[in-house]
Amino acid sequence: MACKLEIRSGGHDYEGLSSVSPLPFAVLDLIDLRNITVDLANKSAWVQAGASLGEVYYRIAEKSSTLAFPAGVGLTVGVGGHFSGGGEGMMMRKYGIAADNIIDAKIINAEGKILDRESMGEDLFWAIRGGGGNTFGVVAWQINLVDVPTVVTVFNVTRTLEQNATNLVHRWQYLVDKFPEDLALRIFVRRVNSSQDGNTTIQAAFTSLFLGRVDRLLPIVQQHFPELEGSSGKNMFQEPIPKNALEKIWKRLYKMDAKMAELQFTILGGKMNEISEFSIPFPHRAGNLFQIHFALLWHEESIKEINWHMKWIRELYDFMAPYVAKHPRTAYVNYRDLDLGTNNIHGNSTYQEACIWGFKYFKVNKFNRLIQVKATVDPHNFFRNEQSIPYLDHYAG
Ligand SMILES: Cc1cc2nc3c(=O)[nH]c(=O)nc-3n(C[C@H](O)[C@H](O)[C@H](O)COP(=O)(O)OP(=O)(O)OC[C@H]3O[C@@H](n4cnc5c(N)ncnc54)[C@H](O)[C@@H]3O)c2cc1C
Ligand SMILES: *[C@@H]1O[C@H](CO)[C@@H](O)[C@H](O)[C@H]1NC(C)=O
Ligand SMILES: *[C@@H]1O[C@H](CO)[C@@H](O)[C@H](O)[C@H]1NC(C)=O
Ligand SMILES: *[C@@H]1O[C@H](CO)[C@@H](O)[C@H](O)[C@H]1NC(C)=O
Ligand SMILES: *[C@@H]1O[C@H](CO)[C@@H](O)[C@H](O)[C@H]1NC(C)=O
Ligand SMILES: *[C@@H]1O[C@H](CO)[C@@H](O)[C@H](O)[C@H]1NC(C)=O
Ligand SMILES: *[C@@H]1O[C@H](CO)[C@@H](O)[C@H](O)[C@H]1NC(C)=O
Ligand SMILES: *[C@@H]1O[C@H](CO)[C@@H](O)[C@H](O)[C@H]1NC(C)=O
Repeated sequence: MACKLEIRSGGHDYEGLSSVSPLPFAVLDLIDLRNITVDLANKSAWVQAGASLGEVYYRIAEKSSTLAFPAGVGLTVGVGGHFSGGGEGMMMRKYGIAADNIIDAKIINAEGKILDRESMGEDLFWAIRGGGGNTFGVVAWQINLVDVPTVVTVFNVTRTLEQNATNLVHRWQYLVDKFPEDLALRIFVRRVNSSQDGNTTIQAAFTSLFLGRVDRLLPIVQQHFPELEGSSGKNMFQEPIPKNALEKIWKRLYKMDAKMAELQFTILGGKMNEISEFSIPFPHRAGNLFQIHFALLWHEESIKEINWHMKWIRELYDFMAPYVAKHPRTAYVNYRDLDLGTNNIHGNSTYQEACIWGFKYFKVNKFNRLIQVKATVDPHNFFRNEQSIPYLDHYAG
């Protein structure tokens, strides 16, 4: 059996695909390739494939207090996987995602050749900006830096069920097109011990980044979300979730072993709605209000514990079906989920059966374009994993 290659940048793949495989494999670890060269005059930077997001932000901030890069919040996440899958963050309502702001790249292809944007051509340059990691080659990036004010405002307001959290989360869903692009407001929902009586309650933390000063932020919040003022984490949603459904979700958080569950509600809209769905492979644009990322952490390693937790999260996934985007129910490739299906390239499944995961991540037309690019640039399917764009011939028979 042939040995396969795993590429590892930050190593944060949710399914561990950069570090484990059922087949014999070697790891190409990019950990020593992490130089970041900021070019202030051009408002750009070259970022090597193993750098982390935190390093990118640090190197930019070192040189300028008015430039930044719109990517994710996980500072240890690697640019190799993150930019390859899109890269959502707190500034996407103003500037789009990381992959929208890539202006050039260097890729080592399966023949060992190093290509840049010009020599790789626009089809491959399109595909590497969101088509998923370990699919076309090993990539390093030139990014476009964006303007930010010297002073920004952040806040983090928490509310428990007793403090009207359900109503506030419900109302938040209607704000996506009311807030200006400068304002991002996420919600983290989890179970906490109530400080008053030691009982358990649900807490919603409203966490915000505003690209401006507080005196401009306050009137916006007062107008659209006055309840936030005063006293005190994988699906795309196209319609608000009704209150009674939110309450049913909270109930699931009360289950004994769900104590470390966390739901992240992330607002979309703004610039995300303006960028064409076809400009890069990342397809979650106009029509989507927000997304929820469901996370459940646990420490116990026994099969019983693992099964309990997997069952909890799968049941929640099923429960959410009526409320999320349909035909297909979409998903974000950087929140990798092998439950959506895998590339069964040695099996006998049809193209349609084997690629359901691809339609969810990219939608049909962009997935088909990714398949065409793959056939052109990597016909031996050298770069691959369980959810990399397949080489079409595997499905021909
Ligand atoms: C703590 C945490 C916070 C996160 N926060 C966010 C967030 O705010 N926004 C968001 O959008 N996502 C977020 N994510 C998800 C994250 O974007 C993905 O997990 C991402 O794919 C991780 O990239 P990596 O390089 O760290 O992982 P890796 O496991 O190294 O790589 C992921 C995939 O890309 C491939 N790959 C790696 N480097 C390259 C390269 N140079 N060229 C080609 N392929 C490559 C790998 O083989 C693997 O298949 C977060 C994840 C974690 C764990
Ligand atoms: C990174 O930059 C340093 C300093 O400029 C240089 O010495 C080193 O060779 C670079 N490393 C890589 C991998 O490019
Ligand atoms: C950067 O800007 C300089 C002029 O300021 C220009 O000559 C050069 O081509 C630019 N480089 C890139 C990569 O855009
Ligand atoms: C917001 O506040 C909650 C509760 O104190 C805390 O757990 C969480 O880490 C805070 N979030 C941020 C981003 O500061
Ligand atoms: C709770 O929120 C709802 C909806 O936002 C609001 O109408 C109501 O006045 C709030 N109740 C309290 C007690 O704050
Ligand atoms: C909540 O209370 C339980 C039982 O007293 C305790 O085990 C747990 O650590 C507490 N959790 C937090 C976040 O304080
Ligand atoms: C916890 O809540 C219950 C019901 O809401 C209440 O009866 C009980 O007194 C509370 N526990 C404590 C320690 O206050
Ligand atoms: C694939 O092959 C297996 C065994 O050879 C068979 O049981 C299964 O029905 C086949 N599936 C399809 C979709 O043809």
